[in-house]
Amino acid sequence: MPGLYGTEQLDGWKQVTKAVHDRGGRIFVQLWHVGRVSHVDLQPDGKPPVAPSAITAKTKTYLIKDGVGSFVPTSEPRALDPEELPGIVQDFRHAARNAVTSAGFDGAEVHGANGYLLDQFLKTGTNQRNDDYGGSIENRARLTLEVMRAVVEELGGHRVGIRLSPVTPANDASDADPQPLFEYVVRELAGMGLAYVHVIEGATGGPREVEGRPFDYAALRQAYRTRAGAAPGW
Ligand SMILES: Cc1cc2nc3c(=O)[nH]c(=O)nc-3n(C[C@H](O)[C@H](O)[C@H](O)COP(=O)(O)O)c2cc1C
Repeated sequence: MPGLYGTEQLDGWKQVTKAVHDRGGRIFVQLWHVGRVSHVDLQPDGKPPVAPSAITAKTKTYLIKDGVGSFVPTSEPRALDPEELPGIVQDFRHAARNAVTSAGFDGAEVHGANGYLLDQFLKTGTNQRNDDYGGSIENRARLTLEVMRAVVEELGGHRVGIRLSPVTPANDASDADPQPLFEYVVRELAGMGLAYVHVIEGATGGPREVEGRPFDYAALRQAYRTRAGAAPGW
């Protein structure tokens, strides 16, 4: 996947954003930490990928080895130390700043969906931590909200969005009780004056209803709307 650090990458993105702006378009970048959906061969020094807990994803990731690409089972991750989490928040903050001030993007969407790192923290199937970042809904949502506050601080809420996927089975994601979890998350987001909240209904790229995973999206919308400060129209 593309990166957004280092002069060469930023210069490359500048050409992309300029081409979009020249034609009257607007472009947001999506900022992504994959967490456990990775492989040791994709990591510095062949170390394990990181995740909320050391639970291997029952999914595959794409790997190019000796010039040949294929999907391979993901590696067993190691659980992040609490001391490492502020660094991840800072990474999102710096990437957002670079995206707008150096690469010319109009804003940033935080990828909180599809079984990647932030979604792994949100959901019980992947988060078995017993510190401030696991257990209760408030604790599981903490990292996502810290990342969002940092990115909003950098760019202003009107330049920030987030993607969420309450019930998708993508990348082995699962939560025991997603309705109150995501209603809490959007209530917290509603005060941030975001450009948008992008919610995947059902399975990503699949059916809008997932068997055994009912979800009330109207109630989610209502939870966002009724919180003071929420942007009108959503
Ligand atoms: C090869 C591939 C790459 C994808 N990359 C991303 C991505 O970088 N970010 C993201 O949010 N979704 C990604 N997706 C998910 C698509 O955005 C999703 O399937 C699409 O939005 C389908 O529409 P839906 O959201 O209505 O289910 C990817 C899907 C595929 C098949």
